[in-house]
Formats: sequence, structure tokens, C-alpha cells
Amino acid sequence: MCGIVGYVGKRTAQNVLVNGLKRLEYRGYDSAGIATLDDEDNPHVARSVGKIAELENVLLAKPHEGHLGIGHTRWATHGGVTVSNAHPHHVGNIYLVHNGIIENYKELKESLSGYKFNSDTDTEVLAALIDKNYTKGVSLKDAVAKAVKQVRGTYGIAVFSPNEPDTIVVARLGSPLIIGIGNDETIIASDASALLGYTREAIYLNDGEIAVCTGKGAEVFNLNLKHLNPNHETIEGDVEQIQKGGYDHFLLKEIMDQATTLHNTLSGRIDPANGTMHLGGPNLTAEEMRNINHVVIVGCGTAYYAGLLASYYMEQLVPDLTTEVVVASEYRYRSFHLPKNSVALIVSQSGETADTLACLREIKKRGVKTLGIVNVVGSTIAREVDGGTYVHAGPEISVASTKAFTAQVVAMVMFAGMLAGYHGGNVELVSKITNELAILPKEIEKVLRTHHDEIKALAKKYVKYNDALYLGRDTAYPIALEGALKLKEISYVHAEGYPSGELKHGPIALVDDTFFEIFDIIDNWLFDKSIGGLHEVRARGGKTIVFTNSKADIETDDIVRIKSKITILAPLLLNTLQQLFAYYVAVGRGNDVDQPRNLAKSVTVE
Ligand code: AGP
Repeated sequence: MCGIVGYVGKRTAQNVLVNGLKRLEYRGYDSAGIATLDDEDNPHVARSVGKIAELENVLLAKPHEGHLGIGHTRWATHGGVTVSNAHPHHVGNIYLVHNGIIENYKELKESLSGYKFNSDTDTEVLAALIDKNYTKGVSLKDAVAKAVKQVRGTYGIAVFSPNEPDTIVVARLGSPLIIGIGNDETIIASDASALLGYTREAIYLNDGEIAVCTGKGAEVFNLNLKHLNPNHETIEGDVEQIQKGGYDHFLLKEIMDQATTLHNTLSGRIDPANGTMHLGGPNLTAEEMRNINHVVIVGCGTAYYAGLLASYYMEQLVPDLTTEVVVASEYRYRSFHLPKNSVALIVSQSGETADTLACLREIKKRGVKTLGIVNVVGSTIAREVDGGTYVHAGPEISVASTKAFTAQVVAMVMFAGMLAGYHGGNVELVSKITNELAILPKEIEKVLRTHHDEIKALAKKYVKYNDALYLGRDTAYPIALEGALKLKEISYVHAEGYPSGELKHGPIALVDDTFFEIFDIIDNWLFDKSIGGLHEVRARGGKTIVFTNSKADIETDDIVRIKSKITILAPLLLNTLQQLFAYYVAVGRGNDVDQPRNLAKSVTVE
């Protein structure tokens, strides 16, 4: 996620800003910048793409002397990775950094016809909106309040103007901002780790609040500019603990964050009231969308499993479509044939996976349209596809992919929902799934909260087993594969995912009391078949764990039963149980959970 730092006080702002941005590097970013005011109230801006070291080189050539400034590390969402898209943005009398997504930036931009824009970002539009409201007699605080009231989306912003040289105004809605109260200095950051070393006294701004920060402290208001009396909290812990959001590992943070990050994936893309979904970015004409008759989905590892799960929904949503899901490392060398009017979904969290990239290039050579389903903005795959969509899961630090998986499936389901509209597809199902997507973040948050301790205890019970089978049918089959991958890659337990209908075709020979079997059982038309597989395993002494959304009595050693209004997308909820289970087994086995042996976050070599 992007990072914000602001400073006003006795020190040279540049040093505090750069040090603070370095504390935020772990969040992942692709460009950085600072803006400061010198003691003659002249503004200075320095921006660079790449790492903070690049920004330091720019500053080495032209140091900033002032005592007030703002800084930002950008994780690109709107607009590519370029200096002009890097923050801070300057429009008129306004200098601004922003975390979050302004959903209605296009409408707002139309209302700002008098402004010339130099970037593709939603942030620059917000800066212009503030500048437009910052007229004679209106304070910066008032101008910010007026502007953000017109915004739909999320923001955490820090703003200054040469007209009020001792002041930084901050505001938040959905994107954290913390104000550190120091001794004759005030430090602002999106993450408390940037404040450590300067102060442990902080005001945690709430959604819908705005603050005026000077070297003497901060005054907090609501958006109607009513003065508030916020609590001053004490920042606990050290830098590393704070960067993990207080969790022991990035993996747990990312599992627990997926309810929040899913909001960004869904933001502005579903309309529950009308039961429709819409993805920007496929860059396909209406005619091309109507003509698509075959979708090939390409990925590796978790990305492949995300595509496999999405393909089940795609076939249900668009009955006249055929789908094919392929492992990139195999597909790139096959003599594959793609029918006319095919489209390829290229799925990759990092956007740098060598095998997936090779497939993309091979498929493009055949003149087939390629759409990226990618998390890292500006990555190689994102730059080479013909179109596509970013899943906006935020930086995924832990090697094991969790929140990106959920976001990838959701993005592909939204693509399928949109495609259905061009193919006279299953409109009722599109509406049902749209309404399930609308509540999915909250339902994931509920499942993780409700069953956290249960899963932790279950992991402890099975921590010593070295062999496991994960079994599921229909949309639970890809989840079984993904669950097995999560367990094997972080706990080093030999875990295999299988369609539960395959048990009799071999795997059941493995079953004895040294194995445990996890059954993902969805309360759907195949429920009885799934139970049949469970009974086969239990009849042979297998230790069984069931993850299910069914209320039925089920004979098993252990069961985790989720309650949710979500039925069609229930596999995504069961998968969060598997993510937690794998995490706690790995922790119980004393493994390096975030950096498992032999693995890299992005496999950029074949
Ligand atoms: C998933 O937990 C693994 N880290 C791995 O299988 C990963 O999904 C695979 O390497 C693909 O990576 P990508 O999504 O960045 O292309």
C-alpha cells in the first residue's frame, strides 16, 4: 500500500521525510517523492520512480532546507509507474500526497475543466479540487473539508500550501493516518513505524476527520469543522512489530487484511442494486466481448488455482462459453491451438512470473487478445497484456499468496459477470453473485474472526502429521488444491489436493492413521457425493477434518462449520479457514512462515 509521511517543526523536514519513507518501504511501492517549503516559503518537489535510494540521489543533487514537508511512497493504482504519476502532486497553491482510491475522479475531473493535468492519477484531481475550493478568505482546512465531501472512495491525505507556511492539513476516510505529537514538532504518517524515534504520543485520526498540524501540535475537526477532542494514544512496540500491524507475521496480517483489501478489488466495479458487475480495463469492444467463445486462463501455483475456481463460475455465468485453465510452465511448450475469438486471462500476483510471461508472449504471437489479472501495477505482465484489470490487493509481502488469490478469483468472476451481459448469460445468477460479492468482505471478516481460535486449536492437534489429503468437489476442488499448496509451501507437510470423486481411483490407498484428510464440503447439489467420499475415508481409518457451510450432521473427527448468507462463493470463505490452518501448522512447526525454504515471492526464472 502507499505510504505517507509529513513533518512540521524544528528539524530539517527532508531528513525526517526520507527516514520515514524508508520505514514504510516494506509496504511495497514503485515510486516516491517529497515536497517541502523552505524558510522563505518557497516550495520544492523531488520525485523518482524506483526505490527511495533514487529519491535520495535526486535530493543529493538538490537538498531541501525547509522545516515543513510531506512525502509519499506510491503503489500505483491509477496510472503507470512514472515520475509524473508519483506523489506529491502540485496543483495551483496545493501540494498533496494521497493514499486510497477516488472512485469518482473522472466525474470530478470533468468539473475541473479550468485545470491542466500532468498525470493519469486520481490524486492530482483531488489536488485540483482542493485548489478550486481554496479561494480568497477560505482557509486550507476549509478548502480540504469542502473538497473531500465531494469524494467517493477512500483517502488518507496530507496537504500544504505556501499561503499557510506553518501548516499541514490531513484528512482520512478508509486509509489510516496517525499524527505524532513531538516536542515542538509534529510528524504525520500512514503507519506508526515512521513515528518511532521521534515520539510515542499520537492521535489516530478517525474516518471523516480532518486535522490542522503545526509545530505546536494538531487540532482535529469533523468535516463540518466542529472542533473535536481526540485521545492521545501511546505507540507501543518496535518498528518490525508495527510494520506487521501487530501480527507476528506478514502472512497472518495479509490473511486478516483480505476483508479490507477486497473492498479495493470490488471498489466501483459492482452494482448490487442492479445486479451487475463492470470491470474497466479489458480494452475489448462490445463486439469483441460478444464474439468471445473461448477463454484460456493461464497461471502458476496459486494463480492457476484461482483461474481453475473462476472457470467453474465462468461456465455457469456464460453458458455458450468454453473455458480452459492451464499451467503456464506446461502450456508454453505445448503445440496448443486456440479457436478464433478466444481471449486469454493471464493471472499473476507479481506480474513477473517467467513461465506465465512466456505464455503471454506465445499467445500474443497467435494474435489472441490477452487480459491481465494482476496485482502489481506496472509489472512486466501488466505492461505487455492487451488489457486487463488490477486486483488491488495491495502489496503481498509473504511468499505464500493469500489475499491475492481471493482478489484474483473475484476479479475473474467480475469479468465473467460482465461477459454474461454480452452473451445473454444467466442474468439471475449474475445478480445473485453480485450481491454475494457485495457482502463478501464482511463475511470473510466474520469467518476469520469467528473461527480463528478453533482453527488455531485444530492446527495444534494435527501439527505433527506429515501427510495430508485435501478433497473437494466442483467449486470446492480448486479450493482443495489451493489449501494443499498453502499447507505444503509453509509447513513442509506433504499435502495433496484431489477431486474427492477421484478417491477410488487411487488416493484412497494412502489412507491410514498417519494421514489426515481435509474435506471442503459445500452445501450444494453435490453434498451427498462429498459425504460419500468422507465415509469411504473414514471406513479406512482416515482422520477427517471437514470445513463446510452445511448445517447437516456430519460424522467426522473434526468440523469447522461456517454460517453465511454466501452460498455460491462459499469456497472462498472455506479457503480462508485453510489459509489460517496452514499458517498455524507452519508456526507450530517453527518454520519461517513469511520466507519458506526454497521459495521466492516471484519466480522470475523458469
Ligand atoms: C503461492 O502461494 C506461491 N507463492 C506460488 O505458487 C505463486 O502463486 C506462483 O509462483 C505464481 O506467482 P504469481 O501469481 O506472482 O505469478
